[in-house]
Formats: sequence, structure tokens, C-alpha cells
Amino acid sequence: MAILVTGGAGYIGSHTCVELLNAGYEVVVVDNLYNSSEESLRRVQEITGKKLKFYELDILDREALDKVFENENIESVIHFAGYKAVGESVSKPLEYYYNNVTGTLVLTDVMRKHGCTSIVFSSSATVYGDPAFVPITEECPVGGVTNPYGRTKFMIEQILKDYYVADQKWNIILLRYFNPIGAHVSGKIGEDPKGIPNNLMPYVSQVAIGKLKTLGVFGNDYDTKDGTGVRDYIHVVDLARGHVKALDKIEEMKKNGADEVKIYNLGTGNGVSVLDLVHAFEKVIGRELPYEIKPRRAGDIATCYADPSKAERELHWKAEYDIDRMCEDSWRWQSANPNGYAE
Ligand code: NAD
Ligand code: UD1
Repeated sequence: MAILVTGGAGYIGSHTCVELLNAGYEVVVVDNLYNSSEESLRRVQEITGKKLKFYELDILDREALDKVFENENIESVIHFAGYKAVGESVSKPLEYYYNNVTGTLVLTDVMRKHGCTSIVFSSSATVYGDPAFVPITEECPVGGVTNPYGRTKFMIEQILKDYYVADQKWNIILLRYFNPIGAHVSGKIGEDPKGIPNNLMPYVSQVAIGKLKTLGVFGNDYDTKDGTGVRDYIHVVDLARGHVKALDKIEEMKKNGADEVKIYNLGTGNGVSVLDLVHAFEKVIGRELPYEIKPRRAGDIATCYADPSKAERELHWKAEYDIDRMCEDSWRWQSANPNGYAE
């Protein structure tokens, strides 16, 4: 029996494949390599010394996906495949809804056809919009999302909840990630954004390596300890391990029957400001990073961090790594692979 990992060649997917292989799972990856490279999967196998199966396909391609389920004995699916750039989603809403929402509809329809009704879905803290309270528990109201990307996550969560209402055979876990950063300790796999990064950590590490000149800090007049935005950065390896724990939970749900769709925040519970992260990174590289204060970025919120206690109670999972370790590992990956997987 194998785990199907959609989008497994991507940033979080590749780290999750490492943890799944280390935990003894058989892994089948499907990915169209839209935002990734097969090299990441080669390195996953190098790190673990174990093999996985890879099908280069688009999850919108029903026939190709159908063949995977015919060839492989898939017990559960971890569904990462999707587009994720917030800014781009504003200018390309159709592409985002089609790829993310329709992609999930095709995937789950093919799953159902083959009697596979267990899925772990990559959702995001973005579903909380400007959160009603912090730390954010899973009960915090969702839906005040301000961009098409975030709305695809909100919609897919709702669609999966509707599946469960209609058919309680579905075992569904929604994982709401906070801000994943860092890289595998080997420095062999990590985040490889195309073009100029939108997110803080890849921008910081590209300034550190000299590919970008100066970091723009988007606003220093928020109601936070130093005026800059506060987020819950989580090491991608901790996040990946959360998926292995989610599969344990799926097994429990299969045995005892699921009484609901399970939802978990995966974060550390610590709020870290932009300047905290910059200073932690400076400690790692042993020099100052050039930055300048810029106006606030449209759509940004002041503070977002998780209450991760439900995941600790029910998944027996807790993030281990702190911000210093996240910066160390990001830097190891960036400095060993200045052009990502392109070399
Ligand atoms: P990523 O872009 O590195 O990985 C996504 C993978 O999916 C890529 O390899 C891409 O080629 C593939 N893909 C996209 N559309 C596909 C399709 N139609 N068919 C087959 N493959 C397809 O992104 P990531 O950072 O690893 O994120 C993984 C998931 O987690 C995404 O769903 C993302 O929205 C979600 N998420 C990410 C973050 C984050 O900050 N990175 C935060 C919250 C949620
Ligand atoms: C981003 C996504 C969000 C996703 C989350 C999880 C955007 C707009 N939002 O959120 O949908 O769920 O990642 O990973 O992409 N910052 C700077 N300078 C920069 C870049 C960022 O100061 O060059 C600041 C931001 O204003 C923010 C913090 O750094 O305060 C983190 O930003 P970012 O890494 O983009 O993540 P989020 O905005 O939290």
C-alpha cells in the first residue's frame, strides 16, 4: 500500500517525501513540474537511500491520474499540488480556481472511483483572513480571505467538508500551515522560488547570497513589538513530520470511523517579527543584512500566529525547531545551491 503525494516535487512535498520514506511508507508522487524540478525527487532518494515512484502528470488530466490508481495500490493521498502565489492569483484568478479547485475535484473523483477516500489537504492560515484573535485556534472564524489564492483554500476546505456530510466513509484532514521556511539539514533540498521571491525568507536569503541588493521591510508602523509584521514561521521539516502524524490519525479514523473532518493548525505558536527574522539570519551569516523600510504591502495583516495545541493533543505532534535553526538550514540550502535546482 502506498501514499500518493500530489505536488510531491515541490518545496513542502519534497520534504514530506523524505519523512514518509524515513517512516517506512511507500511513496508515489504525481507532479506536472510547473513549479518544481525532478531533481528535488532525485535528491529525496539520495537523502533517504530509498526509492519512490514518480509520474509526471497534471492532476487535471483525469485519464493519466486514473492510470496511476490502476497501477498503484494507493491507500491515502496527501494533496499539495496547486498554485500558491498570492499576488499572481489576483491577476490570474481563472487559472488559480481552475488549477486548485478543479484539480482537487478531478483528484477526489478519481480517488472515489478507486475506493480511496482518505486525504490530507494542504490548507493555509490564510483562511483566517485578518484573524479575529491570536493565537489562532481552529475555532477562529474563517472566510475573510482577501485574494483568489486564499479563496481556493477556503473553497476546497468547504468542498471536502461537504463530501464528508454526504459520505462518512471519507477520512479527511485539513492542515492549516502557518509560514513554512527552512530546509532539510543536508542542504540538498529547499525552497526554490522562480523569479524574484514574494515571501520574506527566500528574499532574505537571496540578499544574503548577493543575488538581491536590499530587503524591503513592508511597514514598521504595525501595532506589534517593533512595528513590523509578526508571523508564525515553522521549519519545513517540522511541517513535513506533521503529515506523517496526520497519516497515523487517518489510520485511527479508518479503524474507529471518522466523526468529522479533522482540522489542525501547524505552527509553532511563536510570533516572530520581520526584524526578529532578519536579526536571526544575520547571526547565522555573521554580518549585517541591508534592509530599508518600505510602505506596507497591500493585503498584509499585523499579526498571525497559531495556537498549535490541538495538533499536539490529537496528532501528538509539536514543532521542534526554533527560528535560529530555521535560518541556519535556509542558509545552508541557499549557499550550497545559489541557483536552486537549476545547476
Ligand atoms: P510548491 O509550488 O513548491 O509545490 C506545489 C507543487 O505542485 C509543485 O511541484 C507544482 O509543480 C505542483 N503542481 C501545481 N499544479 C499542479 C497540477 N495541476 N498537477 C500536478 N502538479 C501540480 O508549493 P509548496 O510551498 O510546496 O506548497 C505546497 C502546498 O501547500 C500548496 O497547496 C500550497 O498552497 C500549500 N501551502 C503552502 C504554503 C507556503 O508558504 N509554502 C503555506 C500554506 C499552504
Ligand atoms: C504568505 C502568503 C499567505 C500564505 C503564507 C504562508 C502573501 C501575500 N501571503 O503570507 O497567503 O498563507 O505566506 O506561507 O504572499 N515581508 C517583508 N518584505 C518582503 C517580504 C515579506 O517585509 O520582501 C514581510 C511581510 O509584510 C510579512 C512578513 O514579511 O509581515 C511575512 O511575509 P511573507 O513571507 O510574504 O508571508 P505572509 O505574508 O505571512
